[in-house]
Amino acid sequence: NMHVQIVKDQAAGGKAGFQIFQQALTAGAKVLGLATGSTPISIYQQLVASDLDFSQLTSVNLDEYVGLGPDHPQSYRYFMQQHLFNAKPFAHSYVPDGLNADAAAETKRYDDIIAANPIDLQLLGLGRNGHVGFNEPGTDEHSTTHKVALTQSTIDANARFFDNEDEVPRYAYSMGIGSILQAKEILIVAYGEAKAAAVAAMLQGPVTPDVPASFLQTHPNVHVILDEAAASQLK
Ligand code: F6R
Repeated sequence: NMHVQIVKDQAAGGKAGFQIFQQALTAGAKVLGLATGSTPISIYQQLVASDLDFSQLTSVNLDEYVGLGPDHPQSYRYFMQQHLFNAKPFAHSYVPDGLNADAAAETKRYDDIIAANPIDLQLLGLGRNGHVGFNEPGTDEHSTTHKVALTQSTIDANARFFDNEDEVPRYAYSMGIGSILQAKEILIVAYGEAKAAAVAAMLQGPVTPDVPASFLQTHPNVHVILDEAAASQLK
């Protein structure tokens, strides 16, 4: 059951996304699942500008680079502080700990956090290849939090943000597809032509690990916000 809303641009998507957050909070949501990247920024701007109060709520983020700490400008924790948490603090904000080199311990710790804080509304962006979180094509639908080896194309794309190529993270910790599907409600947002093929595969293609976002078709309560370019390959 996927409810699709097509908006004019990213600013309008921010307002539409904000309304979904507001409805979830009115309905009693206590735990928000959050994402980084360019897509959620206009929603976070609306949340920051609002009078919503998150001080009694919990947030749980999807993913983090292994090796980057909260003070590193490319870490996802840093991104969240800048775009949301500094302006709108939560009672607890969980992001995987990129500085924990013990992957088995960190992924277990994060799964325990998710189990103790069941996510009411999970916000997602969509990768060009259909990824959600760092769940790249081929990821099992039952996957829980795990350590992911970044693809060479992701490493190359990230290199410009670092002083030298050796500093670019090779791994990330990510919630799994199974973790994401446990959220009561999901909001996935995509903008731009580059996402159009992934959007069509997610909504109208077969449910397959080749397109991790296609597993959202099996979830009972998914909102999809698209601009016209991202919706352009829908039939
Ligand atoms: C971010 C994340 C990624 C992004 C996706 C889209 O926490 O997990 O899956 O949501 O790569 O990125 P943008 O929004 O930058 O196009």
